[in-house]
Amino acid sequence: MSANNIVWHDASVTKEERRKKNNHGSYVLWFTGLSGSGKSTLANALSRQLFESEIESYVLDGDNIRHGLNKDLFFSESDRKENIRRIGEVSKLFVDSGQVVITAFISPYREDRAQVQQLLEENEFIEVYVECSLDECEKRDPKGLYKKARNHEIKDFTGIDSPYEAPINPDLTVNTETQTIQESVKIIIKYLENKQLIK
Ligand code: PPS
Repeated sequence: MSANNIVWHDASVTKEERRKKNNHGSYVLWFTGLSGSGKSTLANALSRQLFESEIESYVLDGDNIRHGLNKDLFFSESDRKENIRRIGEVSKLFVDSGQVVITAFISPYREDRAQVQQLLEENEFIEVYVECSLDECEKRDPKGLYKKARNHEIKDFTGIDSPYEAPINPDLTVNTETQTIQESVKIIIKYLENKQLIK
């Protein structure tokens, strides 16, 4: 549902002009994976590497976005859906601004990820599965959240008492259990080069 009496206003500078000026395409690298799988670490390592290569990118990260834009949302199924819907819309704005967007959200539901893809144009959505077993994520437990979830101090925790739907056919998979972060970054860069998304 949306309000009445609102009219779309075309931008004076187009997405294509921004891309041309930046000398690269703009699209979303959508990371999905369990809590503790390394999404944020990988997203930031990749963003740093792109920055060094003069590619405009920006990381949207679950914990950070939930401090501000989405501070009204918690971890029920409907709140997670709304979380991802809003991030999809924000990502689209960033793509329009000519940037490479790297998103680091658990985004546990396939349907929600598919909806983000539909919001964007063809080739603007690249799904990256940040694979890591639940066992390993729980061992890492960087924020102590798995421990709290096991002790019933947190409810609706992904992988414990809330589902995670792994991608069936992701564009790319990196495995942070078997690869170092730098190896995973290299795999993503290679993929982008092969697709001629970066030079
Ligand atoms: S989602 O599912 O996409 O809406 O989640 P996201 O916005 O990525 O937020 C995940 C981070 O929130 C912290 N956290 C939880 N995660 C999962 N389930 C529950 N119940 C929960 N409570 C807090 C946690 O630090 C997640 O960060 P990451 O970086 O994924 O570990």
